[in-house]
Amino acid sequence: MTDAHTVENPVPTPLIRSYRELMSVSGNRALSTALTLHAVTGFFEGLALLAFLPLAQTLGTGESAWGMTTTGWLISLGVLAVLAFVVRYVEALVGYRAAGDFIQSAHRTIGDALAKLPLGWFDRRRAGGISSLVSHQFMSAGEGVAHLLPALVSGFSTLLTVVAGLWVFDWRLGLIITVLAPLTILLLWVSQRIKKAIDARTHAAAAEVSSRIVEFAACQPALRAAGRSHGFTPLEDAAAEDARSQYRSLWISSGALALGAVSVQLLVTSGIIVSGLLALDGALPPLVIVAFIGIMLRFAITLQNLSNSVVGIEMGRIPLRQAREILTAETLPEIETASPLPTPGEIEFDRVSFGYSPETRVLEDFSMRIPAGTMTAVVGASGSGKSTAASLIARFWDVDSGTVRVGGTDIRDMPTSQLMAQLTMVFQDVYLFNDSLWSNIAMSDPEATDAEVFAAAELAGVTTIAEVLPEGWQTVVGEGGRSLSGGERQRVSIARALLKKAPIVLFDEATSALDAENEANVLRSVDALRKTSTVLVIAHKLETVRRADHIVVLDGAGGIAEEGTHEALFTSGRRYRDFWDRRAAAQGWRLTAT
Ligand SMILES: Nc1ncnc2c1ncn2[C@@H]1O[C@H](COP(=O)(O)OP(=O)(O)OP(=O)(O)O)[C@@H](O)[C@H]1O
Ligand SMILES: [Mg+2]
Repeated sequence: MTDAHTVENPVPTPLIRSYRELMSVSGNRALSTALTLHAVTGFFEGLALLAFLPLAQTLGTGESAWGMTTTGWLISLGVLAVLAFVVRYVEALVGYRAAGDFIQSAHRTIGDALAKLPLGWFDRRRAGGISSLVSHQFMSAGEGVAHLLPALVSGFSTLLTVVAGLWVFDWRLGLIITVLAPLTILLLWVSQRIKKAIDARTHAAAAEVSSRIVEFAACQPALRAAGRSHGFTPLEDAAAEDARSQYRSLWISSGALALGAVSVQLLVTSGIIVSGLLALDGALPPLVIVAFIGIMLRFAITLQNLSNSVVGIEMGRIPLRQAREILTAETLPEIETASPLPTPGEIEFDRVSFGYSPETRVLEDFSMRIPAGTMTAVVGASGSGKSTAASLIARFWDVDSGTVRVGGTDIRDMPTSQLMAQLTMVFQDVYLFNDSLWSNIAMSDPEATDAEVFAAAELAGVTTIAEVLPEGWQTVVGEGGRSLSGGERQRVSIARALLKKAPIVLFDEATSALDAENEANVLRSVDALRKTSTVLVIAHKLETVRRADHIVVLDGAGGIAEEGTHEALFTSGRRYRDFWDRRAAAQGWRLTAT
């Protein structure tokens, strides 16, 4: 089995690599160039800062420093400023190109990766996550490439240049900054950690309140029915905890902010004191010390900016981690060439075991053969694995052991396209395209004539839906088919199946009660489908069950309790009889001899 959906990457991937994985070749090149340019800008900015020292020295002493007079140093400063400007400009252009490439390629890379993932990977929770990932989260990660990476790389390069330059200029100044800077960095880091920890706590409390509010709203019918529309304890508790944590967070994060500010002040003040002492000692000219203090101030600002960029980059990691989860998810191995199927239309489970996680098995040593052209109904308690069995036929997941065969061939030995050509699926939870009602049906056979689409729609009872919609067949059904009811969506899906006429139909019948007319539509459709295809129906309605050539009753422990025809099971199958009686009572049915 593939447990791709539970794969977590325990080791954080280097940030730049996570970006690179999502970018095109040319984007990667642009990113490399941009990173180099960021480093070069930082270097020039560092040099420009350092140039103030010899400049101050020549001004103070009237002698030349390192072979250049005041004018020489002024000119060098000017040249450095121009160079820094030019590099900044080019770097911004390249950086934006890299950022644009990231956003574009990330979408494409994720799209390609999604197309290869096992169908079972996609559940509702995931669909929501992916949509927020590719919409605004990738945008903000892209901004990281354009703004945060430059600040980080060039800031770091400036700091290194300044430290190295100070050592070269005068070892005492080098020593001061080398001792003070790590202390400041440590304090800044501590302040960020505190802030992050407290933010996470407040976030959790706020999230708890908002989910309790959703729960409160969603459970209104149940709460009111129970006469408890006031004083919903979980919500009140969560709100109180949220208020407490907000209050606490205000105190602690003010402290953390103060610590951050103090750490920078500390760097500057201690720098001023120590270098001032050096000046009083006459070890260094006063003007040089003034220049040094200026450099310290600038150094402190760069340090603070750097620490802010690190925070921003940390936030940008979240979408990158999610993207990585998609990129590294296990795909189902697939073969390229299709071989002819020995027995088209046949389905076989051969000692299949499967579970969504290693601890819990849904199917255990499960065997069942459905000959071509027959109709089999699978019944069993909720959660007994009926839908799971159907999804294994469509290879949503690979089995842990045993074999699923379609048309006599192991489904792992055929290309997805060949397997999909064999099947149509009508599932409980149907997702429609945000397109017209008509196109949603016609998509299953692009070759079909209008008359054929209409006939399928009519049989499945979609015509009655079209009649009441404002724009008839051309009404757009909304994302996922939101503007239709669950039963209506399933009818559209049945019409698709009728049109496609695939050799095998997997039908997971809706559990919701249908009105008499719709029930008749579904039954008529099933009758039509069994004329052209092998039908496997996960049945809830007694009429559907009774129609099947063969009935399989699951035991709820991963295997089959009983199987046979309706007549045989009705007289001798204990579980089947039990199932039947309970359903019949619920539906107000009485079965007379058939
Ligand atoms: N995507 C999934 N991930 C993890 N567990 C799952 C997943 N889908 C189903 N399960 C679990 O597998 C078991 C079998 O579920 P399945 O949907 O096959 O039952 P079912 O017989 O179709 O039930 P129902 O009649 O309610 O539709 C259940 O315990 C369910 O919670
Ligand atoms: Mg089910």
